[in-house]
Amino acid sequence: MTPTRTAAASPAAIEVEGLTKRYGRRTAVDDLSFTVGTGRVTGFFGPNGAGKTTALKAVAGLARPTAGRAFLRGTPVAALRPDARLLGVHIEPCGAHPGRTGRAHLRSLAALAGLPRRRVEEVLELVGLAEDAARRRVGKYSMGMRQRLGLAAALLGDPEILVLDEPVNGLDPQGIRWLRTLLRDRAAAGGTVLLSSHMLGEAAQTVDDVIMIDRGRLVHEGTIRDLERSGESLVAVRTAAAERLAALVVAAGGRTRRDDAGALLVEGLDAAEVAQLAHRCGILLEEIARRTASLEDVFFGLTEGAER
Ligand SMILES: Nc1ncnc2c1ncn2[C@@H]1O[C@H](COP(=O)(O)OP(=O)(O)OP(=O)(O)O)[C@@H](O)[C@H]1O
Ligand SMILES: [Mg+2]
Repeated sequence: MTPTRTAAASPAAIEVEGLTKRYGRRTAVDDLSFTVGTGRVTGFFGPNGAGKTTALKAVAGLARPTAGRAFLRGTPVAALRPDARLLGVHIEPCGAHPGRTGRAHLRSLAALAGLPRRRVEEVLELVGLAEDAARRRVGKYSMGMRQRLGLAAALLGDPEILVLDEPVNGLDPQGIRWLRTLLRDRAAAGGTVLLSSHMLGEAAQTVDDVIMIDRGRLVHEGTIRDLERSGESLVAVRTAAAERLAALVVAAGGRTRRDDAGALLVEGLDAAEVAQLAHRCGILLEEIARRTASLEDVFFGLTEGAER
């Protein structure tokens, strides 16, 4: 019998438990655990090299973990037979032969998965490749077209669970908006999406839940709404004496960093405390404002992405 997990009546769409993946002496994923809820779009974030692709491959059964396991609907991934109706995956490279057309590639995938040919035409239409792109050789595709072809392949079986590695890469603004709508619609219909992304601002508009990793380890797991709430104590300050103020803030038990626009961001002290510190030390503040942490703020606060 296939071992299944017993606890919940309806198991999580995806559950990762103590996942570790080593390549030689390099640990790509380090004792990582997280849960992805059904009917939700979950964003998977981390700096370059954090282990996102490796973890997604393990979830999709494309990489064998060194330790730990991933479960889909309560069944260990290693015990699952390929099922295009359960899981759709897009992780580059998509495996399409450059000399074949997009349509031929999808047709062979559909045949392998026991899906009707007409489904190929449906997904080509769905991802906007139906016109001449379907007839062109994959080797001549633009990056955005390759991305759409990968999505088409993932969508072939109209799967319950979608796992997408950087699906927004290479898409134009219309493409990004189209993808957001597609993913939100799937979640609204009860589907589950796990996607990695570097486009934090865009992803914040798309995802319900957030998983952040750094150096293979979990650094944050929660809802976007909780993230916004946790950002209440963030204070943005502009001053010519930012370095001095930063040292004072740290001495007072707070933490600081800079945002892209050069403002000093303070965590752990409220605006009144920061203003008092500055006043006491004769530091002139040009601007001080309470700010809700954006996904980017949280990302840089939790990872070392800014320094690397
Ligand atoms: N097949 C492999 N052989 C050896 N090392 C690997 C392999 N795949 C990944 N790694 C290493 O594992 C670590 C994690 O890589 P991974 O590609 O999972 O990161 P990532 O978070 O997807 O990064 P990016 O944001 O750049 O896509 C890196 O140090 C990488 O060099
Ligand atoms: Mg990657």
